[in-house]
Amino acid sequence: MTDAGAILPLRLGVNIDHVATIRNARGGDHPDPLRAAKLAVEAGADGITAHLREDRRHIGDKDISALKSELDCPLNLEMAATAEMLDIALDHRPHACCIVPEKRSELTTEGGLDVAGQVSDIKPYIDQLRAAGIRVSLFIDPDAHQIEAAKACDADVIEIHTGTYCEAAFTRDEAGLERELGRIEQGAALAAQAGLEVHAGHGLTYDTTGPVASIPEIVELNIGHFLVGEAIFSGLDSSVRRMRGLMDKARANVSGARSA
Ligand code: PXP
Repeated sequence: MTDAGAILPLRLGVNIDHVATIRNARGGDHPDPLRAAKLAVEAGADGITAHLREDRRHIGDKDISALKSELDCPLNLEMAATAEMLDIALDHRPHACCIVPEKRSELTTEGGLDVAGQVSDIKPYIDQLRAAGIRVSLFIDPDAHQIEAAKACDADVIEIHTGTYCEAAFTRDEAGLERELGRIEQGAALAAQAGLEVHAGHGLTYDTTGPVASIPEIVELNIGHFLVGEAIFSGLDSSVRRMRGLMDKARANVSGARSA
């Protein structure tokens, strides 16, 4: 929200990692993540997100070069806080870097980054990215001590990990769903008060996106696996357009409620 209480627009970042997962299952160059990224933008994405993992299990270095040189929209590079990734980021200068925790054994990013436990390592890392004009986001759980640590590190943005909330939806744990949504709401409000921009993502689907999109402090959602999965049934254009529509509807309801 602005000081005047107006609701800020909500951006959609489409994560194209799993287009690369399908490509890599056979090698070769089909399906092409860059083609998917362009299609997603035509369908209403405001930006493209890609996670360059240490093991390159989906997105590869060539994908990052192609996305950076061929896309007109902001590129959000997700990466672990390693020396290798810092060099790559400084080389390509994406619009933003989102620092995530990374374990080789995990199927996907399992939880938020422990910023509070490593401020003295993360702050100088962020300083180098920011000095190069790159916006820095930290992917964290919506806990007050992590948000305060993100502020202490001079991050521009926090991205709230919505995985636990989405897992509660998947297991039909109604109490958990309400509790996790409450944590996301409180975390978003706290971070915005501290002057941090607030994003959210991980595991979001058509069913779980609306309540998160209704949190006025959140200005960007990053969504990937579900959109690429749905594209098998309806096409990527359709899945991105439908998600965009759900986000816009949820946001319009917030604006309506505020002005009523
Ligand atoms: N945001 C961050 C920081 C992530 O690491 C991921 C997964 O790579 C996402 C958003 C997107 O999650 P999903 O693919 O489950 O929509």
